[in-house]
Amino acid sequence: MSTAASSGAPVPGGHGADVAVAAERRWAIVVGLIIAAIVAMMIVTGLHWSAMPPSRVETVDVRTLHLAGEFVESNLGSALEADGRAVVRVVAQQYSFEPPCIVVPAGMPVTFRATSTDAIHGFVVGTTNANTMLVPGFVATFTTTFPRAGEHLMPCHEYCGTGHEAMWARVQVLPPVEFLARARGGERVSCVPR
Ligand code: CUA
Repeated sequence: MSTAASSGAPVPGGHGADVAVAAERRWAIVVGLIIAAIVAMMIVTGLHWSAMPPSRVETVDVRTLHLAGEFVESNLGSALEADGRAVVRVVAQQYSFEPPCIVVPAGMPVTFRATSTDAIHGFVVGTTNANTMLVPGFVATFTTTFPRAGEHLMPCHEYCGTGHEAMWARVQVLPPVEFLARARGGERVSCVPR
């Protein structure tokens, strides 16, 4: 021990141990602050931005969804349900969304119901909180409100293959009166040119 002390190396229980304890404590405080920041971020995104899990577990058969049920081609797009809710049905596949141009009303709740037929896709509508993953076999549902009329891009944000970066759709947010006029009568509305 005396040789270690004379050569300047730390002695157990001596000054070196105090330095180690202080360094440990500093590190524990830094890690504690990082954890607190991450938890605060989760709370802020959850409450302030209304970020939410995209779906309860609702399954759909990828082999038959194009033949029958709500995801047949003629039923895709935006609709005004009997109870007055605006519902948008979307199918994603490599490498496009159907419909590729989506119409939604501003200022009223819009429910998305979407799924994928092949790989995992995702979409986010501009800088809004409309953001979800689309997993084959599952229906992703969420409800959001677009505050202002305008136009957004809706890119696929899950890497889904070689055409991923070319996979996107457009979303037109219309004044509610205009949307209701077009969706009345149960028609499926989209902004795809016909
Ligand atoms: Cu679809 Cu990336």
